[in-house]
Amino acid sequence: MATPHNQAERGEIAERILLPGDPLRAKFIAENFFEDARPFNSVRNMLGYTGNYKGKQVSVMGTGMGCPSIGIYSYELIHFYGVRKLIRVGSCGSIREEVKVGDLVMAMGASTDGNYAHQYGLPGTYSATASYELLAGAVHSAASHGYSYTVGNVLSSDLFYTETPEWKEWAKMGVLSIEMESYALYCNASRAGVQALGIFTVSDSIVTGEALPAEERQTGFTNMMRVALETAVL
Ligand code: HPA
Repeated sequence: MATPHNQAERGEIAERILLPGDPLRAKFIAENFFEDARPFNSVRNMLGYTGNYKGKQVSVMGTGMGCPSIGIYSYELIHFYGVRKLIRVGSCGSIREEVKVGDLVMAMGASTDGNYAHQYGLPGTYSATASYELLAGAVHSAASHGYSYTVGNVLSSDLFYTETPEWKEWAKMGVLSIEMESYALYCNASRAGVQALGIFTVSDSIVTGEALPAEERQTGFTNMMRVALETAVL
């Protein structure tokens, strides 16, 4: 039973999945971290694979950028393919001085400048939160490896380029960094009663203009993947 965006049959996708924004990163993760990786999707080049990690079945699939895109893919994964644990892995831009490039950020909560939760007709403002179980697992994994990490709120923005420095207002609320997808992922997961978490490598600082050098980008990515995979198979 395929969907308009995913050609996989039910059963081809594991109940735990890693979700990078970039489909080529999904391919890289499958080829470098999975055993017996098998492709399940290439519709719109949104590549997806299922394989094994530490003896457990796990999948990986790209989501594209922004809440509408991850909203579609994660909804289908949850409702049409039975996925129960969704871990977004990505990069983010720090908006707080204490959050350094190369650090890991774990999104306990996600705020947004978008309108994704409008669909639910709520009589107020929805606070999108991670699965506590996945968050606790990720913190345990990062701490056990001695990785530098911060846990808190991220901004899932609809905007990469902005006319005015809106990030400064979010930073005043203690928001750590900006990315573009977690709010929709958390909404979809909460609505369906399944688990989600966003884990990020800080690729750049919007405060200082600093960016992660290429070699450290790879180290940061590998550390994030180790934490995400260990959390997925818990
Ligand atoms: N904005 C949104 N997403 C990002 C950024 C940013 O500055 N950096 C890395 N991902």
